[in-house]
Amino acid sequence: MQRQISVNLGNLLLSLSEITDIANPNIAQHQQRTAFIALEIARQAGIHSELLENIFTASLLHDIGAISVEEKIAIHNLDPMNYDLHCIRGELLLEQTPWFKKIAKIVRNHHKNWEDWDEPIENPEVFASQVVLLADYVERHIDRNKYILHQNKTIIEMVKDLKNIAVHEQIVNPFIEASKREEFWLDVVSPRLYPVLLHNGPYRNAEIDLHGIALIAEVYKDIIDFKSPFTATHTTGVCASAEILSRLFGLTELEINLMKIAGNLHDIGKLIIPNSILEKPGKLTPDEFAVIKCHTYYTFYVINTIGGLQQIAEWAAYHHETLDGNGYPFHCKAEEIDTGSRIMAVADIFTAISEDRPYRSAMAKDEVYKTIKNLSDKKLLDFRMVDLLFDHYDSVNTYVQEKQWAAKNFYESRFLKVLEMSK
Ligand SMILES: [Fe+2]
Ligand SMILES: [Fe+2]
Ligand SMILES: [Fe+2]
Repeated sequence: MQRQISVNLGNLLLSLSEITDIANPNIAQHQQRTAFIALEIARQAGIHSELLENIFTASLLHDIGAISVEEKIAIHNLDPMNYDLHCIRGELLLEQTPWFKKIAKIVRNHHKNWEDWDEPIENPEVFASQVVLLADYVERHIDRNKYILHQNKTIIEMVKDLKNIAVHEQIVNPFIEASKREEFWLDVVSPRLYPVLLHNGPYRNAEIDLHGIALIAEVYKDIIDFKSPFTATHTTGVCASAEILSRLFGLTELEINLMKIAGNLHDIGKLIIPNSILEKPGKLTPDEFAVIKCHTYYTFYVINTIGGLQQIAEWAAYHHETLDGNGYPFHCKAEEIDTGSRIMAVADIFTAISEDRPYRSAMAKDEVYKTIKNLSDKKLLDFRMVDLLFDHYDSVNTYVQEKQWAAKNFYESRFLKVLEMSK
């Protein structure tokens, strides 16, 4: 196995940005398009180096605090709603890691109108937030059912009306200048925007190492889990169980670190599943279950397209595969499911059935044992990992619960209360 793992930063940021917008055709590429518009405005205004990179990264992730598909669509459709919530949650999630701390305030203020600021436009944080606000506004006012060059002039006129009210002229003027070119608009709506941003994005560091990837995966763990109170500590539990089972099984330190990243990202594909399905109190219909089945497909897709992370992609995305070849969505055969994926499958089911769900309560130890043993007797799960889990049940359970307790505390005392705390 490769000892020094690093990946292309552009691919990582673009893939993570894309996953939250795949859920619905009306919001597809919303953050990437916003990032492109923001980049063009900032470059036209003569911005470069760190501030340019921060504006770009903040735009790519600006709606990260909109935690359900339903909320994302409502924000995008300009529905009357409290815009503050997703901005405050975005800031709270991003400030958890040094990696994203520098963009947390920009995300916090991306809906704050110019007339509500007390600080001057020369303040880089104010400038950056205003660029993202305008870029987001422009993107949301593009009618996706109409040819772009039949509507660009109308959008430019709408932006002129915002000048020095919602958006400072130092942002509006460069936008008007940059958007004179048809190329600008054709790029914004191009289905090939990903490679455009990959090659023209302002990445000061081309690569990100394993430590950086691990920090970003920790942030995504919360984004995935906090979609619903029923899963608020699920990823934390899977990651902790996968870590301890990997150690007991004798994996190397490097492999354990990769497993932790895979554990934190294993359900990243759930970001595109509507909460109406995830939180349904009763049994899912076959059609609803078919929708659930796409989550591990997207987990694999988002991690694997980053490039250089295939091992993590498999360990993360194969957790619903079974050794009889009837798992979903890949129907992998036993020989294609390696040790890490087998550990992850046990970690996932163990954590899931030990938690409350809308349709059932958490199972007690006896029931957990019966359920998992049954799956291993049927040769769906690997008996070696199952035996390991029950040989060390108390220590595994204590370790997992400690981690889950800390995540629950953060979720309940901070994430759910962000609006009250901001007053
Ligand atoms: Fe927003
Ligand atoms: Fe947005
Ligand atoms: Fe899953």
